[in-house]
Amino acid sequence: MKEKIENLLEEVKAFNASNLEQLEAFRIKYLSKKGIITELFTEFRNVAPEKRKEMGQLMNGLKTAIQEKIVSLKEGLESTVESPDKPDLTLPSSAPLGSRHPLSIVRNDIIDIFSRIGFTVSEGPEIEDDFHNFSALNFPADHPARDMQDTFFIEKDPDIALRTHTSSVQVRVMESTTPPIRTISPGRVFRNEAISARAHCIFHQVEGLYVDTDVSFADLKQTLFHFAKELFGEKTKTRFRPSYFPFTEPSAEMDISCNICGGKGCNICKYTGWVEILGCGMVDPNVLELCNIDSKKYTGFAFGMGIERITMLKYQINDLRLFFENDVRFLDQFKSSI
Ligand code: PHE
Repeated sequence: MKEKIENLLEEVKAFNASNLEQLEAFRIKYLSKKGIITELFTEFRNVAPEKRKEMGQLMNGLKTAIQEKIVSLKEGLESTVESPDKPDLTLPSSAPLGSRHPLSIVRNDIIDIFSRIGFTVSEGPEIEDDFHNFSALNFPADHPARDMQDTFFIEKDPDIALRTHTSSVQVRVMESTTPPIRTISPGRVFRNEAISARAHCIFHQVEGLYVDTDVSFADLKQTLFHFAKELFGEKTKTRFRPSYFPFTEPSAEMDISCNICGGKGCNICKYTGWVEILGCGMVDPNVLELCNIDSKKYTGFAFGMGIERITMLKYQINDLRLFFENDVRFLDQFKSSI
């Protein structure tokens, strides 16, 4: 693949167009939906993880070279063409390309990793009723566990609120699907928290659910271990600490070895060598029953993580508010292939 990209780069560098039609044909060949670049990004999925960085850089280099070539040839050709009365809308644009938001990049990476091991993607409403956000998830009425997630209520009796987690989507999937279920639900969630460098009242989650016969805690650990290595690198270690969530039993929190210092200790991991990235556990049989799934026949595991937190760790960003300000100087630093 490396040789192929290098050959293409030579070809691009050598290219010259004597008119705008030829330039447009060049653009279509490389940059259109079915063009060479799209083809390369498809091939990229099969590249071994250790080669991805190098290949990614080469591919991005090639893409930039093509874009620059088009802009420079276009300038030259246009100055020789008599200026027509109407603008030619078929000409390639020379406007600078934007980039994806870092949260979208990481969300896409997470979806990609779980899709490769058979998880589907589910979505649900951001305005939820009490049943899907709380009751079906084993939060008894007036139970203090509801205070774990400060809720924005929209209506009282019956309660309607902005969802506090995307576990509500999983309730909807369980209600309408017979296992096996393997799904993740990315989406926006809302909690009444003071805005600071580490918290916001709107943030993004990806939650996952796996329900089938004989699903065990070992399956949960192996799946999440695989996920952590794919996202943070092959050397990443994981550890599980006991925790509490009303909808899982047993419940745990998963830490990864600090991706900044490699576990030696730094101010990001508060000198512990570990950083927490997600909550998880075995789906409580009560939850399965409330969603019409036979808890004698089926077991399952669930997990949930905040995309902001993962993005901050991955890119060493120390203030969560930057994600919401949309300052181009911040956003411009992120480039993605998907
Ligand atoms: N829903 C939990 C939260 O938002 C995360 C979680 C999901 C924990 C699934 C365990 C299992 O904090």
